[in-house]
Amino acid sequence: MSHAALLQPYRLGSLELPNRIVMAPLTRQRTQPGNVPYALTATYYAQRASAGLIISEASQVCPEGQGYAWTPGIHSPAQIAGWQGVTQAVHNAGGRIFLQLWHVGRISHPELQPNQQAPVAPSAIQAKAQCYVQYADGSHGMADTALPRALETAELPGIVQAYAQGAANAIEAGFDGVEVHAANGYLLDQFLCSGSNQRTDAYGGSAENRARLVLEVLDAVVARLGDSGKVGIRLSPYGTFNDMHDANPEETFSYLVGELNSRHLAYLHINRPDWTGAGSAEAEALLNNLRKLYQRTLMVAGGYDATSGAQTVQDNSADLVAYGRPYIANPDLAERIAQNAAWNEPDVSTFYGGAEQGYTDYPTLSA
Ligand SMILES: Cc1cc2nc3c(=O)[nH]c(=O)nc-3n(C[C@H](O)[C@H](O)[C@H](O)COP(=O)(O)O)c2cc1C
Repeated sequence: MSHAALLQPYRLGSLELPNRIVMAPLTRQRTQPGNVPYALTATYYAQRASAGLIISEASQVCPEGQGYAWTPGIHSPAQIAGWQGVTQAVHNAGGRIFLQLWHVGRISHPELQPNQQAPVAPSAIQAKAQCYVQYADGSHGMADTALPRALETAELPGIVQAYAQGAANAIEAGFDGVEVHAANGYLLDQFLCSGSNQRTDAYGGSAENRARLVLEVLDAVVARLGDSGKVGIRLSPYGTFNDMHDANPEETFSYLVGELNSRHLAYLHINRPDWTGAGSAEAEALLNNLRKLYQRTLMVAGGYDATSGAQTVQDNSADLVAYGRPYIANPDLAERIAQNAAWNEPDVSTFYGGAEQGYTDYPTLSA
């Protein structure tokens, strides 16, 4: 099959994307002390600049938002400066890049938190999940996530402000826009889904209440940037990663996505549950319904190859297709799709941590 559908340009806000191929957000745990991106980060992203759009790895908006060692932040001057080097390199290479705004909520551990405090969450419900800790003696490894402390209602405006400030910092760092990470079991998804939210205030209970925080965050980010076309959002209905569960995903996500229509965002990005083996007919049906419900740009991710990605755009099931693991191993994925060339296989052992190996040393077709 021809992959021509993926190679058509697309207008996204004020950006002209040369193709429909997006680099999905990918945590790589490779920053410098202070959670600062550096020259190697810039090389890695610039190598991938032929993507229609790059979405950065998730970046914590505040120190409490971190759940894995060596992930980048977007809250300190050094982090902003580090990211400036990245955005410059991507733009010099002809690319476009959004930053993914992250708060992990309960997917964390006191060793990663200021003053070794408990991580925060909608409710004091521990996830059966793991995070990645670096201890004071320098040793590091996977650890069970801790029992979180439930956020007070009065603390929520501070969380909203942290996202808005992170968005402003991202624009200062030269990003073309931001993606609000409301997927994969992190803080905003924890509020959205009933399994992790047992609050009795205005942020728990009904779908409307559980969606309140994510909508407040979106509205604050859009207000701070003054341009809704620079703001996307990522959701993962039916996702089970990080011990997630919702009693009625159809109701929860239909309500939220219906509310998104009036916000004129750059895009809605759906991460299908298939990538962790949690795909189902219900999840597929909901995705189809959301496509009909949402009248603007839809991006999808999760298990696509060149053929299924092209088919998705050709069928008008989505406008843009994001690739995760394929982009780890193929810096020139867009060229490979255009030329119908084979893809390098990603090496799982070098996904997280380390330096060049498995990061900037995957060969291009021309190499
Ligand atoms: C190593 C790795 C890191 C990831 N980091 C993030 C992340 O920072 N933010 C996010 O939203 N999703 C993250 N994901 C999910 C990917 O963006 C993507 O949705 C998933 O890999 C499915 O797409 P694929 O089948 O093309 O790999 C990560 C996945 C992998 C494998």
